[in-house]
Amino acid sequence: MGEGTRNRTSSRRDCIRTIAAAGGAAALAGCAPNSRAATDAGDQEAATIEAVHFPEGYPPYPSADATEGAFAEYVSPGNVGVMKAFGTELHFGQREGARVQDAFTKKWYWDCHRNGTLYNLGHRNPDIIAAVKEALHQLEIGNLLLVSGYKAKAAEKLVESTGGALTGVTYTASGAESTEVAIRATRGMTRRTKLVSIEASYHGHTCFALAAGDNADNHERYLLDFDDFVIVPYNDLDAMAAAVDDETAAVLIESSPAQSGFPIPDSGYFQAVMDLCRKHGAKLIIDEVQTGLGATGTFWFWQQHGIVPDIVTTAKGLGGGILANAAVLLAPEIKEWFFDTAIPHSSTFGGNELGCVATARVCDLTIAPGFLDHVNALAGQFAEGLRGGPYRVNQHGLCMGILSEEMGKMEMTARLFEAGIFTVPAWYTDGGVEFRPILTLTENEADEIIGIFRDTVG
Ligand SMILES: Cc1ncc(COP(=O)(O)O)c(C=O)c1O
Repeated sequence: MGEGTRNRTSSRRDCIRTIAAAGGAAALAGCAPNSRAATDAGDQEAATIEAVHFPEGYPPYPSADATEGAFAEYVSPGNVGVMKAFGTELHFGQREGARVQDAFTKKWYWDCHRNGTLYNLGHRNPDIIAAVKEALHQLEIGNLLLVSGYKAKAAEKLVESTGGALTGVTYTASGAESTEVAIRATRGMTRRTKLVSIEASYHGHTCFALAAGDNADNHERYLLDFDDFVIVPYNDLDAMAAAVDDETAAVLIESSPAQSGFPIPDSGYFQAVMDLCRKHGAKLIIDEVQTGLGATGTFWFWQQHGIVPDIVTTAKGLGGGILANAAVLLAPEIKEWFFDTAIPHSSTFGGNELGCVATARVCDLTIAPGFLDHVNALAGQFAEGLRGGPYRVNQHGLCMGILSEEMGKMEMTARLFEAGIFTVPAWYTDGGVEFRPILTLTENEADEIIGIFRDTVG
């Protein structure tokens, strides 16, 4: 992270700490760029400042109940039920840096869910907002068929992030769409249909993606229980060796499945899987939707494992948490095959020009001198701060699974929420949470989160 970014983040947070007690959301508004100082915020002033951040129509419903009722009616009753079951009924209101505020209770939470890599750079990152604001003077979505320098520039930076090992980029609008493209490309190139994927993995809610993910209910519900889609346990080379054969198009691995608490693979696991793929003429796809963009301390997780996959899928944080963008990164051989047609992929929102401006900025910020050092320093701080508790910590940089035999996953999630930390259960564990602090935390903020965690879980 550039010094400038760190300073801005920390000074805003200091401001938050100093005045939060005095004015809640209204006072916090004074920390935001271009807003009025909240130093002498009386009730009248506080109301005015709050109005700046919550103009008419924000939030759109007057209460949590009304919001949940409308959401259940028009969007998805299931999601409302899941959040109630987790004990994490959070309605994002203000968001700033590493924290989010409930729009109705006005309570602030440390965001340790991070939505995968979506908020790697924090909520409403000022550098991303500035880049997008500037671009809005001229750009919009762009045209899906036309050649665009904005798309090419972001792709060039993504190739650079791989050290030039992966040389082609296909844009998509989501992680699920990236999974579709990756599977489609490997099927086409190998003329095979068999896919081997990993237990407890998630790759999105489209057809190939759901079929490759580990969710028997969805396979059954949507008739996606394909005979040639095989699932094996993570980090189990015997099972992998038994599954991969000369019929296999690809092995698809969620680099470390978040839902099983970010398990640690044996050293040599990825190389051995790569060797198996090479032996059988299959392709290796690594899903880095959770672990990419610096979250594990390197730009990409696979870079820590001495391999170069054939395909890497990425999404979420590619638009810096402000815009949508997603991509599939291709190694030279599969790029050559996939690009050898008029339109290898088409996606109106995938690679949209504003999104690509954000992606280019995300790449710049992530490779800026000091950024990954900062991530690794934070990772060390969390490792140290969480040491000795009644739980096991799986850790890849700032992707952590905290697994307990003493506290169930739902209880841990709900207790942390009550204490001011938002995260979700690691679904395929008995006791455990996915724990993903934001990468731009200051040292003091990390200490605060560690303190809350230890007071709550042990
Ligand atoms: C590992 C992984 N792959 C793919 C996806 C799907 O991404 P999207 O929600 O953008 O379709 C997700 C989403 O959480 C994910 O965690």
